[in-house]
Amino acid sequence: LVYYGSVINPVSLKLFKANRCLLAVGSSGNIDWIVEDVEDWVVQETMAAHGCVDVEVVSLRDGEFLMPGFVDTHTHAPQVPNIGSGQQYELLEWLENITFPMESNFSNVEFAERTYASVVRRVINSGTTTCCYFGTIHLEATKILAEIVNACGQRAFVGNCNIDRNAPDHYISPSAEASMSTTKTLISHIKQLPLNPHSVEPLVQPILTPRFAITCTSPLLASLGELAASDPTLRIQTHISENPSEITFTMSLFPECSSYAGVYDSFGLLRANTVLAHAVHLDEEEIKLVAQKNAGISHCPTSNFNLSSGVAPIGRYLDQKIKVGLGTDVSGGYSPSILSAIQNASIASKVLAMQHRGDSGASAGFANKQLSVASLLYLATLGGAEVCNLETSVGSFSVGKSFDALVVSVRDDSGNPAIWGSGPAPKSLEGMLEQFFFCGDDRNISRVYVQGKLIGGTAHKR
Ligand code: GUN
Ligand code: FE
Repeated sequence: LVYYGSVINPVSLKLFKANRCLLAVGSSGNIDWIVEDVEDWVVQETMAAHGCVDVEVVSLRDGEFLMPGFVDTHTHAPQVPNIGSGQQYELLEWLENITFPMESNFSNVEFAERTYASVVRRVINSGTTTCCYFGTIHLEATKILAEIVNACGQRAFVGNCNIDRNAPDHYISPSAEASMSTTKTLISHIKQLPLNPHSVEPLVQPILTPRFAITCTSPLLASLGELAASDPTLRIQTHISENPSEITFTMSLFPECSSYAGVYDSFGLLRANTVLAHAVHLDEEEIKLVAQKNAGISHCPTSNFNLSSGVAPIGRYLDQKIKVGLGTDVSGGYSPSILSAIQNASIASKVLAMQHRGDSGASAGFANKQLSVASLLYLATLGGAEVCNLETSVGSFSVGKSFDALVVSVRDDSGNPAIWGSGPAPKSLEGMLEQFFFCGDDRNISRVYVQGKLIGGTAHKR
């Protein structure tokens, strides 16, 4: 298939391309070739020059554009039913009163089947083509989550939460060994899932998921570290330095460690394929350690505001060349859409910029400055891909990469602007992207592709 029309493509934190392209997707679902800045009258000859005769061209309409799919580097599938509740709490009380009770329900396999089917559908239709999912402590429910994601054709990492202390009796593994056994069985199960028919590579991969240091004993973290060491390709996801009370409690549990990041590092869990969610309050030494280990940070600004956690200094991390992606952190965050994370990442950066207004010697970098649309696009796509160590295959459009993409439509089917009411649509593609980011939603995402296959969006028939 060859697509023709407006294309948004991230290049760097400061630059994205916005132009009319011909983009060819092979039967493998990878991008075969791209020609940029193509005018209507050269479409046929450009096709012919690439040996495309009798090949269907899918032309995007006026008001539509293609962009890479969103990467959600941090979310909790079992918390979707809780979205929008419990906002009076901060993290530790919220976990106790709202979150653990909901996650506990997933001991019921039928509940898991029903709930996860609707969760995954909703996440896909929000435009998330790659997702890092936390499951629960339960083996059967988390297997079901992985199976549903695989059957729907979404790219994802799925892990069971490791919890063996500081959680209620109804939601805790009886021992470190039991928690490890669940993790090992889940990994084997995910590795032997049937290939989704449209992909030659597995779309769903396992990920080690120590919930956070507070809920894991040292023996459990040590066993997870050993398992990680036995497979350097195995991703790891966890929470770090989200809330002041959480940090104090963590340091009291690990008095031998000098920092929160140091706890994970001491167990071999801080490495180039570790995804650290939040990182709101890291100190200078921890920032250096995270940079040195090349671990990635999942910026979850909706959640950081909603649970009154704080404002993560993302610009400082970018200045240290730390990989950063966006996370919805449902249901700490009240929206499963990366669009909400984009909006709140922008506001978070403006809060820091306002606090540092008038600072002398403003840096040339990103620290304490407003994030541009280019930066927001990057974090939502290629930055997230880097955090997942998938940047060679997804996150932007280039030859050989997977076609994981969205068709965004700012006009409805009758040709009326969907975002702008009856007002005029912006003429520029850059303007359309900005307005989609700040006032669009899943009604504007008409098609969601993973590995070349249509898996969601308003135009997807199921
Ligand atoms: N820390 C430990 N568990 C969680 C969780 O479920 N959500 C958030 N936001 N932080 C956590
Ligand atoms: Fe979280």
